[in-house]
Amino acid sequence: LKKIGIITGTTRQGRKSKQVAEWVTERASKTGEATYEVLDLADFNLPLLQESAHPAMGEYQLESTKRWAKAVEGYDGFIFVTAEYNRSVPAALKNALDTIYGEWGGKPAAFVSYGGASGGMRAVEHLRQITLELRMLQVHDQVSLPFGGMALENPDWKEDDNRNKQLDSLVGELESMHALVSVRA
Ligand SMILES: Cc1cc2nc3c(=O)[nH]c(=O)nc-3n(C[C@H](O)[C@H](O)[C@H](O)COP(=O)(O)O)c2cc1C
Repeated sequence: LKKIGIITGTTRQGRKSKQVAEWVTERASKTGEATYEVLDLADFNLPLLQESAHPAMGEYQLESTKRWAKAVEGYDGFIFVTAEYNRSVPAALKNALDTIYGEWGGKPAAFVSYGGASGGMRAVEHLRQITLELRMLQVHDQVSLPFGGMALENPDWKEDDNRNKQLDSLVGELESMHALVSVRA
């Protein structure tokens, strides 16, 4: 059955990506049919790309790369939960994407972002280009959480109807895209 990984895009102490990823996982598990799980970058401690061969060759040498590749291989699609660092993708997430290759291809990629007034959208625009190069399939609908007036510090932030509907729509699109890919495969 379909298994979707919710990838945390940041790894720093005190990061917000974990709580956003947990909300996505809880909600998607309720409204979707697939299995949703947090795939936490912080559990992998990936070094900055150290492999000698281009990742597209699939000749991984480091244990850390093999472990990450195996984990990613086990999912049929992904929701990337990302902040925006200096108008772009957090380095930990870019590195995790760059470190492997074939394990991403042909799988749906959806995006949930958070940040300042921009809600992390500029990171998502870059992520769309990066994941295109990795031959992932783009889910159009996305969710963005601007902090202005809707801070995560507000205990009710998960109850926002509009935001929940946006996420439901993202999940629906992701699941139907996956169904389409499976039929054609
Ligand atoms: C290095 C760094 C750069 C940042 N740059 C931006 C930015 O360009 N745009 C933005 O909206 N927020 C920016 N922020 C604020 C983040 O959106 C906010 O700190 C968020 O909580 C970071 O995600 P994290 O908690 O998961 O690390 C930046 C934060 C950091 C630490």
